[in-house]
Amino acid sequence: MMEKFNKDIPYNDLPDLPPKVNLETTAIFKASINANKVLAELKGYCQTLPNPELLLNTIVLQESKESSAIENIVTTQDELYRATLMSGVIRNQAAKEVLQYRAAMYWGIEEFHKNKLITSNLMIGIMQRLRNTSDSIRKNTGTKLANPTNKNIVYTPPEGASIIRDKLSKLENFINDNAFSDLDPLIKMALIHYQFESIHPFSDGNGRTGRILNVLYFIQQELLGLPVLYLSNYIINNKSNYYRLLREVTENNNWEAWILFIVNGVSETSAMTLKKINSILQLKRDAEIKVKDALKSSYSKELLDLLFSHPYIKIKVLEDHNIAKRQTASEYLKKLEIIGMLNANKIGNEVYYINQPLIDVLSN
Ligand SMILES: Nc1ncnc2c1ncn2[C@@H]1O[C@H](COP(=O)(O)OP(=O)(O)OP(=O)(O)O)[C@@H](O)[C@H]1O
Ligand SMILES: [Mg+2]
Repeated sequence: MMEKFNKDIPYNDLPDLPPKVNLETTAIFKASINANKVLAELKGYCQTLPNPELLLNTIVLQESKESSAIENIVTTQDELYRATLMSGVIRNQAAKEVLQYRAAMYWGIEEFHKNKLITSNLMIGIMQRLRNTSDSIRKNTGTKLANPTNKNIVYTPPEGASIIRDKLSKLENFINDNAFSDLDPLIKMALIHYQFESIHPFSDGNGRTGRILNVLYFIQQELLGLPVLYLSNYIINNKSNYYRLLREVTENNNWEAWILFIVNGVSETSAMTLKKINSILQLKRDAEIKVKDALKSSYSKELLDLLFSHPYIKIKVLEDHNIAKRQTASEYLKKLEIIGMLNANKIGNEVYYINQPLIDVLSN
């Protein structure tokens, strides 16, 4: 069966899930017990937070930046956050694409919550938004995947819109069908991610869409209540293994190494995310004391929250959130600058303020 695979010919024989190999080896079993444990800790921790949505804005933007970076859409933290403050056209192309990615992710999450299903249409909608295109399933021939370093062809995905649609709908069934629920969801996620990338349904944006699907799947399986866990950072740090292990599945049916890679990624990333959320909360507790001291009776919890969901902030943001009118809002921010809580900067003649310690934690 495997000898049918030829890297130069469309892989229309890509087998449907689940693969016919033992998916519960001792190594996989051990790794998934550990990953489930750390993940449950992260989920539980998020549930104890009074207002966990506040963290999302920054975590999701950071993920958008990192997931886009895998596709060589590289922006600096500064360019990106400045772009979030702009009301008009964003000139920095990479920052624009990262913000599109974030919008696609939020759209996907909202859409998913309507019926809790991860469908082909949802996948298409996410890809269209992150690329800002009306493109759908690939119709053209000739899509090939190359090694990003030496540009050698490593894989040719299935070709023909009807074959692609068919494989995608089989994947959709596998994701949403409880008949497969005796498989550990983390193992299932590894299978799904491989399958989606191997179908490679779009002419571009498959990697980024696939990474958004991972987080939707965590939510669907109730492994997380909120979209806070992302593998992009792990993938960036282990990029060549990521590409190699995808190929190992196709070429050698080596599912174990791939599953271990993903499941261990979940452990590592959950632990890192827990630490990060902890550091943010610690910063916020320190800031609370400083802000209260500087603003006295004008202090509000809403303002403090805003400083932590918008690491780059300007007067308008305070106005938009009904913290204060323009003049007063401006005084608040100036006071916070004076005590060293925020750093002032300018775009054109508009002042904006940076919560630098928060930026440092986010980009660790
Ligand atoms: N040998 C392979 N088999 C299956 N999928 C692969 C293979 N090599 C790479 N991929 C997947 O293809 C993705 C790249 O595809 P594409 O350029 O369409 O996505 P993207 O979102 O634009 O890019 P990127 O994933 O690099 O950010 C990779 O991220 C990876 O998930
Ligand atoms: Mg691409």
